[in-house]
Amino acid sequence: MADAAAVQDPKCALCGGEGFTFQVKDHRALAAPCSCTLACTLCAGSGRVFLKDERGYEALRGCSCGRDPRRLALLSGLRLPLKFLDRTLAIYRAYSPAQARALLRARRFVDEFVPGAGGQRALLFCGPPGTGKTHLMSAMLRELAAQKSVRGRYEEFFLLLSDIRDGFSKNLSSREWLEPLREVQVLAIDEIGKGGKNREWEQGILDEIISVRYNAGRPTLLATNYPRPGATWKFAAEGEVGETLEQRVGPRIFSRLHEMCDLIDVTGPDQREVQHDARQARDGAADGSLRGPRPARG
Ligand SMILES: Nc1ncnc2c1ncn2[C@@H]1O[C@H](COP(=O)(O)OP(=O)(O)O)[C@@H](O)[C@H]1O
Ligand SMILES: [Mg+2]
Ligand SMILES: [Zn+2]
Ligand SMILES: [Zn+2]
Repeated sequence: MADAAAVQDPKCALCGGEGFTFQVKDHRALAAPCSCTLACTLCAGSGRVFLKDERGYEALRGCSCGRDPRRLALLSGLRLPLKFLDRTLAIYRAYSPAQARALLRARRFVDEFVPGAGGQRALLFCGPPGTGKTHLMSAMLRELAAQKSVRGRYEEFFLLLSDIRDGFSKNLSSREWLEPLREVQVLAIDEIGKGGKNREWEQGILDEIISVRYNAGRPTLLATNYPRPGATWKFAAEGEVGETLEQRVGPRIFSRLHEMCDLIDVTGPDQREVQHDARQARDGAADGSLRGPRPARG
């Protein structure tokens, strides 16, 4: 990566100064250079610059303006959920002391991350729906890729399981599906504990992923809607009774998570409800009518 300071216009209205934007194609988010980078004085819009290394040799490197093709590929490779493409740490708000702590921890993880160094602790964000856990993890992956060229990957546990199941039905060995998850520098797995007709199998998969990453010395970011034992809040999916994360994933995996991760509580007001109420108030004000009660969340 180029050491030179970023040269893109910090006020660019399209990219906010990041030098890239996400474009959605076939339900996938692809990072593309922002047009403002064409005016980059370092790379003249080529995305690459010659820089001297420590020994004085000139080498071709990616430019810091956002046009660097390698960095764009890393951003596309994150596979961020489409709703979260523009979520950053800068727009995350601390509506509660727990959220303030979670934000600080997320920021620290990004700031202290040294690519290739190993030894970073895994993080487990624990909180009821709508408190911004997916927001935080997406923002962390995005910043790590954009600022430190870190190869990351976002996975929702439930969808990952179905990919793995597909792999098994195509006779993929566990090495073949596990390898890409082991390889990425930072893996985020969202919605752990959500499940699952075949809990034992699902727990085994989770165990395999987190151990293989632990052994490789690479951190994993995890999030769950289920509380740690002793928490003052509860969560139950529709038609289920409330359980703790320990009950969901079993005591063995829970103790492993406990040992490997820093548990971070993310409690606060449900922003999905807040956003929904704001939308209703806006729509109601716009057409002058009153809407009925809001539908139950799915
Ligand atoms: N503290 C926050 N500051 C800013 N936006 C938030 C915050 N918490 C949640 N949101 C927004 O509310 C919505 C739901 O958040 P999400 O990350 O999906 O919550 P969770 O994953 O905890 O269920 C998203 O649009 C997210 O950007
Ligand atoms: Mg979420
Ligand atoms: Zn721009
Ligand atoms: Zn440039």
